[in-house]
Amino acid sequence: MLSRKKDWRQQVAYQIYPRSFADSNGDGIGDLPGITAKLDHLDALGVGIVWLSPVYDSPNDDNGYDIRDYRSIMQEFGSMADFDAMLAGMQQRGIRLMMDLVVNHTSDEHAWFKQARSAKTNPYHDYYIWHDPVDGREPTNWEAAFSGSAWTFNEATGEYYLHMFSKKQPDLNWENPKVRQEVYELMHFWLKKGVGGFRMDVINMISKPWLEAGTFSKSEARLPNAPKVQDGFLQPAFEMVTHGPRFMAFMREMKQEVLDHYDCISVGEAPCATLEQAQEITNPETGALDMVFQFEHMDVDSQAGKGKWALKALHLPDLKASLSRWQTGLHGKGWNSLYWCNHDQPRAVSRFGDAGLHRVRSAKMLATCLHMMQGTPFIYQGEELGMTNVKWFNIKAYQDIETRNMYAQAVLQQGRPHQDVMASIHAKGRDNARTPMQWSASQHAGFTQGTPWLALNDNFSQVNAAQARADADSVFHHYRQLIALRKNWPVLVDGDFELLLPKHTALFAFTRRLHDVQLLVLCNFSAQFQGLPLKQLPDFSAATPLIGNLPSSEWAMAPDTLAAWEARVYVLA
Ligand code: GLC
Ligand code: CA
Repeated sequence: MLSRKKDWRQQVAYQIYPRSFADSNGDGIGDLPGITAKLDHLDALGVGIVWLSPVYDSPNDDNGYDIRDYRSIMQEFGSMADFDAMLAGMQQRGIRLMMDLVVNHTSDEHAWFKQARSAKTNPYHDYYIWHDPVDGREPTNWEAAFSGSAWTFNEATGEYYLHMFSKKQPDLNWENPKVRQEVYELMHFWLKKGVGGFRMDVINMISKPWLEAGTFSKSEARLPNAPKVQDGFLQPAFEMVTHGPRFMAFMREMKQEVLDHYDCISVGEAPCATLEQAQEITNPETGALDMVFQFEHMDVDSQAGKGKWALKALHLPDLKASLSRWQTGLHGKGWNSLYWCNHDQPRAVSRFGDAGLHRVRSAKMLATCLHMMQGTPFIYQGEELGMTNVKWFNIKAYQDIETRNMYAQAVLQQGRPHQDVMASIHAKGRDNARTPMQWSASQHAGFTQGTPWLALNDNFSQVNAAQARADADSVFHHYRQLIALRKNWPVLVDGDFELLLPKHTALFAFTRRLHDVQLLVLCNFSAQFQGLPLKQLPDFSAATPLIGNLPSSEWAMAPDTLAAWEARVYVLA
């Protein structure tokens, strides 16, 4: 069957992290009826796609990214009837629902893994990835993303199993055709219900190079250690498993078996993905997915090779070089996703803007910069309000497994100073993005009647949806305008991209051009006035304003200067 995709490229997506979005029954945990009750917020914004983080049954070692049953709803979130009502509510508003497909791994409490670990002869054993001990210990020095070894010993079989994340998230063995069929069937299950696509969790990690060689679970083939970047036994090892030799074959098979049969869209989360790999994955003829989430621009404020917690001040030319390489590299060859943040990243305005005095203006500047690029913008819940990071000083306030494990390792095992480790958590911790959505200035920000599962950001009396919807100058209304522009300006969807002033340390300037329509985008990533180097920019003396974060009536008063965090978009004559 042919793929019958409705045109989605002029639409903007919105990510919901259900645990923190809206609680309908006072248990302090966001849920599906809570989402259904808030759909008008999304409708008012104008988004056409929702990416919903996992809502499946899960023991919540990693807030739903550890799935126990792919066909049922997490009890805390509601029932299948609640899901159907939420989906119907989205469909009525013309919003496409994209589910989160987490199939690099399952929960260790999934029925498959319980079977698999019971005996080597169990028919489910080969659903997962096993290795005998090497010299009496873990087969390699690989470190899991949530600290500790990527291998955990299983008494019953005398083997280690692989988990690139927590030990409660064993990696599936995609070389096993039965595993692939199981995944395709569960995808059909959700698509038949009417969901409109998938965001695929760490999907480029499914093909493990050594399994392809047929050395299933055996110790005779010694796996390579990860290159040493720090002292000690364990080493980060994502590179060892991303974009493996059979990855594209698996993806094309999935496309043929499943995706091609529905009106659905797909975005693959792809840590470590290179531009060339993204071209291969999203090539409209020979690729398999519509777009990927790449991470290059998320690494610009950490020290190369040392991981996300090793902080480094942002040097704007690095960010520009990265984003513009992806803009030009995928133009006409694939499709970009655009994002500043999600449930794994800190809040954009705290990271790249100014969360204090210029919060509103810098949040609008960041939105303008991103939404004027080519690709599908993803807004993370609360970004449209300019929500900010939190700063708690007691590690016990944090719930995130990655943050807690990192703290335990760094402070308790390695003896690093509490202060330094907290500084990294304040800048990069995932709970920054996971504090409850701020709906109003009333108790618990209108998120819940009970006690929220994670503390609120205490700025909710100023920063909340009720305020933002009522204030025509809010971040919310700016996002609404940007979303509307994308629907009416084909140059935003199809135009090419050219970076200007690549070395400038405060200005992010670029053009978009489609036939005879050209836009000039000027963004000030600093709290200082910036004089515009007019000779290095196209002549915009006769241009008309399209959108900005200061009244366009004032632009002419300072034609060659941008104010703090100002953004302007001109339509060139
Ligand atoms: C992805 C998710 C993240 C999760 C991890 C393991 O990176 O976005 O939240 O912890 O995969 O599933
Ligand atoms: Ca609830």
